[in-house]
Amino acid sequence: MESFFICGGNRLEGELSIQTSKNAVLPILAGCILCDKDIILHKFPKYEDTLTMLNILEDLGAKTFIYDDCVKIQCDSISKSEIPVSLASKIRSSIFSLGAILSRFKKAKVPYPGGCAIGARPIDLHIKGLKQLGAKIVDKHGYLYCDGTNMKSGVVSIDFPSVGATENIMLASVFLKGTTKIINCAREPEIVDLANFLNSLGAKISGAGNSIIEIEGVTKLDGGEYTPITDRITTGTYVLATLICGGDVTLSGVNCEHISSLIHNLKNNCCKLDIKGDKLRVIANKRPKAISKIETQPYPGFPTDLQPQIMAMLSVARGTSVVVENLFESRFKHVSELKKLGADILVNDKTAIIKGKSMLYGANVVCQDLRGGAGLVLAGLVAKGYTTVDDVFHIDRGYYHMEKDLQKLGANIERITKA
Ligand code: UD1
Repeated sequence: MESFFICGGNRLEGELSIQTSKNAVLPILAGCILCDKDIILHKFPKYEDTLTMLNILEDLGAKTFIYDDCVKIQCDSISKSEIPVSLASKIRSSIFSLGAILSRFKKAKVPYPGGCAIGARPIDLHIKGLKQLGAKIVDKHGYLYCDGTNMKSGVVSIDFPSVGATENIMLASVFLKGTTKIINCAREPEIVDLANFLNSLGAKISGAGNSIIEIEGVTKLDGGEYTPITDRITTGTYVLATLICGGDVTLSGVNCEHISSLIHNLKNNCCKLDIKGDKLRVIANKRPKAISKIETQPYPGFPTDLQPQIMAMLSVARGTSVVVENLFESRFKHVSELKKLGADILVNDKTAIIKGKSMLYGANVVCQDLRGGAGLVLAGLVAKGYTTVDDVFHIDRGYYHMEKDLQKLGANIERITKA
């Protein structure tokens, strides 16, 4: 088992360039299924999840080659329309491939997806959306058996702006003759990036980033090269790390618009955020202040993927804060672990009340999920003494060697293997 061993208390200083977004790359890789030429993705991040998605493409028949910081995907040999349980159970994003496989082969057999244990993660909106396009989907023995022979363009209305459902329906619509209109779409930057990627190959998608997306069907996509956006959640994680530890950190390759809700919440919070082009300098010299109330919401609201990290920050802030988790029902699993470090947090249903403590104390904690794990690392960085964070494979799903990034900034953190 791999763990992080942290000796808390160091101030963070230096410059870090932010990696490519996991959540942008995953649907883009699913989009490669629509193509029968070569695609090169630059600045390809080697997270566990993106590597698993590459394995899924390979299993479907694609050939993939990872060079220094890019990946080449030969899509002409994609020939299978079925994903094995062994791969689908590893990542929830395997479900994105359903729309693309249906589009390419007019049929698909896809198992229920895996992913982080942050509560029930239904896929009803994906299925309902694809059915509105005419797909026939039968759920049997843990598999979705799908027939896309009668799929047609039209109007698809999504009950809730789900990121994955929006991406899946977009991917399913690229080749449908006529115009498909998706209503009540998610507006996350990763959706805009997927549309930009597909458009760069010849798709005709407009409106991404708004709540209505229109897709004019095309007959084929070309190959091409693309550089996906950088990771707004990693950016936010390191901004919060700097606030927690104190420091002077410059993050480069950042699109600050993508983290505007975080920046808004940190205004007047004992730190200076200086934005110049794609650089964000964070200067924090005082203990952070509590935030009266933060609620997670779909973009452009405060991201649920930064909720554990901001909770770690609020655990050492001056005053009492309230965090409401509106997106996922079990996304407070880090709370019991933060309490082991001395945090004072009371949870009632989807609300957490955090009384900031002037000091946390090192302890042995266990990651339960990806972003919760990141929150624990942040708390360990400020805790007095030694903290061990176990099961960091969760963190590796979405941060590439997080410990190396933090070491660069001066943190005392090591990856260790426990028997
Ligand atoms: C994506 C992100 C994830 C992030 C989440 C919310 C990727 C790979 N993952 O996940 O990191 O935490 O957005 O910002 O991009 N829902 C349903 N039925 C469905 C689909 C979703 O009820 O068919 C619900 C979910 O349970 C959840 C809400 O809708 O309560 C939002 O989920 P969704 O936006 O779909 O998240 P993901 O795409 O899975």
